[in-house]
Amino acid sequence: MEISLEGKVALVTGCGPNIGSGIALALSRYGAKVACNDVSDESIAACIRRIERNGGTAMAAPGDVTEEEDVRGYVEAVLERWGRIDILVNNAAVLGGRGVLDEEAAAFERAVRVSSLGYFLNTKHVGRAMAERGIRGSVVCISSSNGWSGTAGVIAYAFSKGGVNNFVRAAAMDLAPYGIRVNSFTPTAPTPDNPELLAAGVTGVLQSPPRGGDRGAGGLGGPTGDEPWRRPERWRGERTPMVPMGTTGTPTDIGHAVAWLSSDYARLVTGTDLVVDGGARARNFAYLPAAAGDLAGPVPLVGLDGSAATE
Ligand SMILES: NC(=O)c1ccc[n+]([C@@H]2O[C@H](COP(=O)([O-])OP(=O)(O)OC[C@H]3O[C@@H](n4cnc5c(N)ncnc54)[C@H](O)[C@@H]3O)[C@@H](O)[C@H]2O)c1
Repeated sequence: MEISLEGKVALVTGCGPNIGSGIALALSRYGAKVACNDVSDESIAACIRRIERNGGTAMAAPGDVTEEEDVRGYVEAVLERWGRIDILVNNAAVLGGRGVLDEEAAAFERAVRVSSLGYFLNTKHVGRAMAERGIRGSVVCISSSNGWSGTAGVIAYAFSKGGVNNFVRAAAMDLAPYGIRVNSFTPTAPTPDNPELLAAGVTGVLQSPPRGGDRGAGGLGGPTGDEPWRRPERWRGERTPMVPMGTTGTPTDIGHAVAWLSSDYARLVTGTDLVVDGGARARNFAYLPAAAGDLAGPVPLVGLDGSAATE
């Protein structure tokens, strides 16, 4: 099976150096032209550089995914330049946060807004552009394992990612008559493999740290208010022993899967979720995976970025 996105145009939101950049690069390596969105011009520039040095074609689509005028503006700019959008990847999100006793209303609202309004506005305007042109495109909404099971310390993130999962099913029904597919992809704390992050010394699982300062209801049920059980467990360096295959993979693994999901091979895949996580989500709570030394491990990663491949 030779996946080709040749002739297709993709828009990826939130092209930061970790997952967004990995997906954008993969779509480009499979043949798509890629419009890179972010609120950070620096992240957009780095993503475009990465695509171009790997032989791809990219453009900037700067803007805030929660501002309808911004979304309209960059969607128009992509249509003006390339005439079509075949693939939308809703990826921009605000990670990290606090638990239900400590989260602040403004932070909760912002995190939920980016994942809810952001995913909605981009799906609406790109969906309309696809439908108007008869393009039977693909929308992929990046979810999280936090959208499927509970984690302490990220109440807004968990709320919004749970919402993403049902947004996908409902939007899939809205867009099915036009031949447009809508699915989610669920990453599970991948190991960064962007050479620029590796060069900067980032090697472990990359997640936003919990926000510091006064944790609001600090001390309730514990002496400091900052006990580990109030936060998601964060694995650094060595891979968590709780993953059956020994690894949840890299942004490159995510990119390969999103490229397939956006290709014509997946023409009847809609309203569902794809997860590439080494069995992490499939694991029953009472099952302890084999020790790292007893694992065969996955086959080697098919790298997409010259020097990449950390696993
Ligand atoms: N890193 C993980 O462990 C992990 C695990 C599961 C799911 N995910 C999901 O994968 C996706 C990417 O995660 P990541 O680790 O690369 O995160 P990241 O924080 O590195 O990247 C998110 C990007 O979104 C951008 N962004 C935030 N708000 C925006 C807005 N309003 N408009 C436009 N851009 C905006 C940020 O500037 C940033 O570049 C997110 O949807 C996240 O929820 C991440």
